[in-house]
Amino acid sequence: MKHHPAGIQRSLCQPLSALATVFLLVSTGLPVAAQGTPTEPEGRSLRIGIIGSGTMGGPIGQLWADAGHQVLYSSRNPDQLMDLVRDAAPRASAGYPDAAAHFGEVILLAVPPSAVPQIGEDYGHLMEGKVVIDLTNPREDRDGLISNEWLEMGTGLAMAQYLSGARVVKAFNTLGSGMLGEAHRPGEWIGVPVAGDDAEAVEVAALLVRDAGFEPVVVGPLARASEFDRGTPVWVSGMTAAEVRAALGLPPDADR
Ligand SMILES: NC(=O)c1ccc[n+]([C@@H]2O[C@H](COP(=O)([O-])OP(=O)(O)OC[C@H]3O[C@@H](n4cnc5c(N)ncnc54)[C@H](OP(=O)(O)O)[C@@H]3O)[C@@H](O)[C@H]2O)c1
Repeated sequence: MKHHPAGIQRSLCQPLSALATVFLLVSTGLPVAAQGTPTEPEGRSLRIGIIGSGTMGGPIGQLWADAGHQVLYSSRNPDQLMDLVRDAAPRASAGYPDAAAHFGEVILLAVPPSAVPQIGEDYGHLMEGKVVIDLTNPREDRDGLISNEWLEMGTGLAMAQYLSGARVVKAFNTLGSGMLGEAHRPGEWIGVPVAGDDAEAVEVAALLVRDAGFEPVVVGPLARASEFDRGTPVWVSGMTAAEVRAALGLPPDADR
């Protein structure tokens, strides 16, 4: 009998015969919510699909698994994700990007912006109605012309145009990867601006910012994500929440 690495989920699109690896979702023993919209996020385990399990997606997934959420890391080569799955056991599994889009009540999009048009085309239908947390930062050297377009439009709105029906929330893009090691630090936590048009989705994202060990600062609708895009004063600044509020002209007690 052939043995397959535990924790790999098959692609939804891939025929069984083409699969090199199979599908044992690691059992969590945690309450897993019913499919669909999260309505009472506080205090319960969420299913989170991570598209882009690299420098940002990997460690953020680990922080969420540590907080009791169930994560499905994805890659176009999911057998490369076994270390991540092992480190986040028993609350992690791995699969192809469509499996993550299908699995998650919440999706983290941690990919280069240049990959987003294709991801929207291929998996957008699987994210309709779901909370999609966007941490992308455009970079001209990596993303080409799309980088300037996104920054001019504001990256939150730019992302949303490829994900029709998804409840897009911008968050985590102001953290440098090195700051992820400061999650849950003693004293005042690093502040993470959050923006989105759907109040419930913003609430879910803010909860997940806090569960990851950072202090959410709700800024406003998705259009206001441009205020903390790449190159703004709060971006990769390591500011506390109070400092972020002051820098963005928000009342000191906003969203408390
Ligand atoms: N690094 C930072 O300090 C930092 C901080 C804040 C925000 N960001 C932003 O976060 C995003 C991710 O950055 P990163 O540093 O984590 O990058 P990374 O380490 O290169 O990881 C990006 C991941 O995206 C996946 N990917 C690329 N194209 C894809 C596609 N077409 N379909 C599905 N998955 C695809 C790759 O997965 P596979 O190749 O395995 O499929 C890769 O693991 C970027 O927008 C970046 O600007 C980065």
